[in-house]
Amino acid sequence: MCGIVGYTGESRAQEVLIEGLSRLEYRGYDSAGVAIREDDGIHVVCRKGKVAELAHTLGHFSLTGTCGIGHTRWATHGKPSEVNAHPHTSCDGNIAIVHNGIIENFAELRDELALRGHVFSSETDSEVVAHLVEDNYHGDLVEAVRLSTEALVGSYGIAVVCAQEPDVIVATRKDSPIVVGYSAGDAGSAAMRGSFVASDIIAMLDATRDVVVLADGQIAKLTPNGIEYFDEQGRPCEVTHTHIDWDLDLAEKGGYPDFMMKEIHEQPRVIRDTLAGRMVGGRLEIDEFDLSPEELDLTDRVYVIACGTSYHAGLIAKNLIEAWARIPCEVEVASEFRYRNPIITPTTVVVAVSQSGETADTLAAIRDARVKGAKVFGITNVLGSPVARESDGVIYTKANKEIAVASTKSFIGQVVSLTLLAMLFAQAKGKLTTAQVRLLFRELADTADQVERILSDTDDIREAALACKDAKSALFIGRGIGSAVSYEGALKLKEISYLHAEAYAAGEMKHGPIALIDEGFPVIAIATKSPTYDKVVSNLQESRARGATIIAIATEGDEDIKNYADHVIYIPKVRDAFSAITATVPLQLLARFVALERGCDVDQPRNLAKSVTVE
Ligand code: AGP
Repeated sequence: MCGIVGYTGESRAQEVLIEGLSRLEYRGYDSAGVAIREDDGIHVVCRKGKVAELAHTLGHFSLTGTCGIGHTRWATHGKPSEVNAHPHTSCDGNIAIVHNGIIENFAELRDELALRGHVFSSETDSEVVAHLVEDNYHGDLVEAVRLSTEALVGSYGIAVVCAQEPDVIVATRKDSPIVVGYSAGDAGSAAMRGSFVASDIIAMLDATRDVVVLADGQIAKLTPNGIEYFDEQGRPCEVTHTHIDWDLDLAEKGGYPDFMMKEIHEQPRVIRDTLAGRMVGGRLEIDEFDLSPEELDLTDRVYVIACGTSYHAGLIAKNLIEAWARIPCEVEVASEFRYRNPIITPTTVVVAVSQSGETADTLAAIRDARVKGAKVFGITNVLGSPVARESDGVIYTKANKEIAVASTKSFIGQVVSLTLLAMLFAQAKGKLTTAQVRLLFRELADTADQVERILSDTDDIREAALACKDAKSALFIGRGIGSAVSYEGALKLKEISYLHAEAYAAGEMKHGPIALIDEGFPVIAIATKSPTYDKVVSNLQESRARGATIIAIATEGDEDIKNYADHVIYIPKVRDAFSAITATVPLQLLARFVALERGCDVDQPRNLAKSVTVE
C-alpha cells in the first residue's frame, strides 16, 4: 500500500526520492508526492497517478534541495487526488509529513486542532500529524514529533521535515514499518553520501545495505552526517543494525517482460527451497512449528485464517489436513473470523497465512485467536513481519520478495508449506506411516520438475487466452481440490485483466450459474484425473450444450477430454493431493496472457495493493 522514502545528504533529493518511490511502486498506489527543502522553504509537489507523472512534473521545477521526503499513497480516507496525496503540510507550510497507516482518532484531533485555528486542506487522516507537529514545535523537531505521537491512536510510519531544521528528517513508527540507513558514499560507485529512510528496505538498497529497522516508538533523527536514535521518552537509545545480503537483482525482472512472469517462473525453485531440509533421518520435521508430539496428537481442530490468494491456499490445506490427519479444519476469511466468536479450545491450532505478513485483517484475527487461547502459527514470506512477530511460531515460505501485486510464487510456497503441515499432523497422529510420509514427500518434490515442464511450453495457454480476451465474464469450475484451484484462477484473472470471473464448485453449476452460459461464454474447468473426473466431464457437457467455450486443464494422456473441450491445457499426472500446484500454474499464465491481450499492466493492477494494511 502506501510507501515512504526520505533522503538528506549531498545529492539532489529529487532524484533520490523518485528512484526510491519507483522501487515502491509494486506495493500499489494511486498518487505520489515529494516535499523538498529549498533555501526559501519547503516545496511540495504531488500528482495523482504514477510516479513517472510526478517525475515529469518535477522536471518543470528546478528544485536543487538535498533534503526531502516522498510518498506513494493508496487511498483510504479521501479519494485519490492531488489534494489528498502526501506530503501534507502545516498551516504555515514549515512542516511537511508523510504517513503510512491509519490515525484512528483523526476526527477528534482534527476538531481540537481546528478549535486552535488550524485549517485543513485534505480529507485525509494523515494531515493531522502535520498540524500536531506544528503545534508542538519549539525549536526541536525530534521532541515535536515525539509529543505529537503521544496524541495518536492507530498505526503509523512517519517521516517529517521542517523548514527551520534544513537538513533534518525525523522518522518514527508504530505498527507500520520504518527503516533507516546511512551511507558514507563511495567515490568509485554510484552510492551517494547521506541518510535514508523508507517504509521498505528495497527503496534504499542502492544506497546502503546496513539498515536499522525501527522498533515501535523509536525515533530516528537523520542528518547528512549520520543518524541519531531516541526512545519513546526522547532519550538517546541503542538500536540493532542489520546487514542486508540479498541482492537488488532479486527485485529486478531478470530478463522477463514483467515481474509476474519472472515470479511464475521462479516457482520450481520455490518448491525446492521450501522442501529443503525438511526430511531429517527419514522423518518430516518442521522445527518452527514447535508443538510437542503430544500437542500435535491432541490437536482436534485447525483453523486456517487468511485473505485473498492466501485464503485459497488454506482451502487446499483443508482437503489435505482432513484427508490425511483426520482433524476437522475450517478455513476462514480473516476479516470474518474475528467477528463470529469461533469455537476455540486449548487444543485448537490456528494457522495464519499471509504472504506480506502485514495484512491488517489477518493480524487482527491472530490477536483475537490468541486472546481466546489458541496457539497461532504464521505462514509468511516476509522475515520479521508483524504476522511473524505476533504468532507463537512462524514458517517462512521461501518465495523471496514478490513484486507483482498478484501473488503467484508465494501462493505455491504457501501450498507447499501447508501440505507439509498436513503431513506433519498425520505423522504425529499416526494416520500416515513414516514410509507413506516419505513417499508423499518425494512426490511433492517432483512437482518442481513438473511445474518446469508446464512452463517450458505455454502455446496452448496463449491460444486459450485468445478465446477469453473479449469475453465479458468467465466461469471457473472444479471439484475437490480443483474447486479451490478454480477460486484462485478466477481471482487471478479478475485481478489483472479486469475481466469479471466467478468460481464455483462444479456441482453447483446446475443450481444457478449455468444460467449465465450462452454462446462463446468461457468456462475454465479443472478436469484433471481425480476421483470426481467423470462428474466434472458431465458439467462440461452441460455447459457445452449451452454454447460455452470450454477450456479444460487436463492430465497428460487424457485424449477423451478433447471431446468435451474447445481448448485443452495438459499438465503432468500427479497425485490428486498435489494437483493444486500443477493446475494453478497454467491458470496464472492464462490470467497473464488475457491481461496482456487486454492491454493491462499485469504487475500493478488498478485499485490493488501488495500489502493490505487496512481492515
Ligand atoms: C493476491 O493475488 C492478491 N493480491 C490478494 O488477494 C492477497 O493474496 C491478499 O491481499 C492477502 O495478502 P497476504 O497474503 O499478504 O496476507
